[in-house]
Amino acid sequence: MKNEFTLCVKRFFQINRTLKMSKLTTAILPNLRRNLLKINHLSNRSNGSYYSQISNNAAKENKILDYLRAKIEATGPISVADYMKEALISPCSGYYMSRDVFGTSGDFITSPEISQIFGELIGIWYFNEWSRIGQPQPLQLVEFGPGRGTLTDDILRVFSKLTSPSQYKLSVHFIEVSPHLRQVQMSRLCPENLNESSYDKSFITKYGFPITWHPHLTTVPEAFSLYLAHEFFDAMPIHKFQKTQDGWREILIDFKDNELRYIISRNPTAASKVLIDEKEERDHIEVSPESGILLESILKRIEEDGGIALIADYGHMGTKTDTFRAFKEHKLHDPLKNPGEVDLTADVDFKYFSELAKNKAVVVGPVSQASFLKNMGADIRLEKLMQFADAANQKSLKTGYEMLTSPDQMGERFKFLALYPTILEDFLTKYPPAGFDQT
Ligand SMILES: C[S@@+](CC[C@H](N)C(=O)[O-])C[C@H]1O[C@@H](n2cnc3c(N)ncnc32)[C@H](O)[C@@H]1O
Repeated sequence: MKNEFTLCVKRFFQINRTLKMSKLTTAILPNLRRNLLKINHLSNRSNGSYYSQISNNAAKENKILDYLRAKIEATGPISVADYMKEALISPCSGYYMSRDVFGTSGDFITSPEISQIFGELIGIWYFNEWSRIGQPQPLQLVEFGPGRGTLTDDILRVFSKLTSPSQYKLSVHFIEVSPHLRQVQMSRLCPENLNESSYDKSFITKYGFPITWHPHLTTVPEAFSLYLAHEFFDAMPIHKFQKTQDGWREILIDFKDNELRYIISRNPTAASKVLIDEKEERDHIEVSPESGILLESILKRIEEDGGIALIADYGHMGTKTDTFRAFKEHKLHDPLKNPGEVDLTADVDFKYFSELAKNKAVVVGPVSQASFLKNMGADIRLEKLMQFADAANQKSLKTGYEMLTSPDQMGERFKFLALYPTILEDFLTKYPPAGFDQT
């Protein structure tokens, strides 16, 4: 596979030499503005009642708390990472496993649910970046933790405007652990196949592109891919460490007086011995080795099979300390109360990601969400959608745009990071990717 992608890139550069790069960029490479214009007559998306047929069957009793209590009593305190994993994705009644947690009736709302502009601009970004490197095929769109499937729905709407299933070999691959959310995603993208959810079968989306669901990246075919992780890494388990007089110690979770509580490990744990950078200057840190392992697998695939990754999440550049928190009904909640019934999350450490990726990929960004969306033409798209909207929709379009871009809402806290194969380094230096100028 590596050879195929390398050959494709070589071919691309050969064409460039013949046509002269500047000519190619203006004449052949699709230009962002033109693509924005092409999707202009795509109207406001329908938010319909895709989800009404899917019941919300959150467990009444707290099975996870009972299980954690028994486990801690039998084998001792657990790491925050083990706690997160149990509370979020335990097959018995993990938070994500059996309910729709998004939107006004859920616990939190994500950018693609707020405004169609978000997914459309990401769609244009992918199309543009893929086109700039010669549209290698077959092409896969691989999304980690697609939630309700709204982001990919918006991306495919854009792709189906700019390409057609018969013209391009594009397939979609969802990596989703939750059986309930797989159903929600299916109802959104291939409603005719509802209730057929399966990891072993492909389905055809309403746009005509095939889609397959996967438990892990390992089962996704090795081919040129556009990887997408939006608000996925913030749900990955983290370990927490505290600097003490005796050195770094791991924060663990114990069960005492009928409730869960934090304790500081008396001795170093395996995690505290291997996960802390000796130059670390903060006195409290959070590390997600599981995110690191997954990122390594994505980097390996990008390098060997070709691909581009876009990671968007709330995060920091190795500066924050305690970011572990819980949400219930859009309000902050005690992370140790009601496990399995509340969202648990921690900011993504983009410095850790950038350092892990350096020398293995070309790392672009991170830039703030506001910068990315504005660089990609969010204002132009908003203006166009407003022209076709009634008064109520105009209000919600404006509010959505504000939420996504305003510095005191999601504009600054959310960051975008892109990864490309190292073979493209010179090209990207000369012709930087769209969306990533610092504004
Ligand atoms: C915060 S939601 C993000 C939803 C979506 N990306 C969006 O922006 O609306 C996290 C998603 O990741 C999924 N998820 C969480 N942990 C996972 C894991 N270990 N493997 C696969 N999916 C996971 C959840 O089921 C959910 O779909």
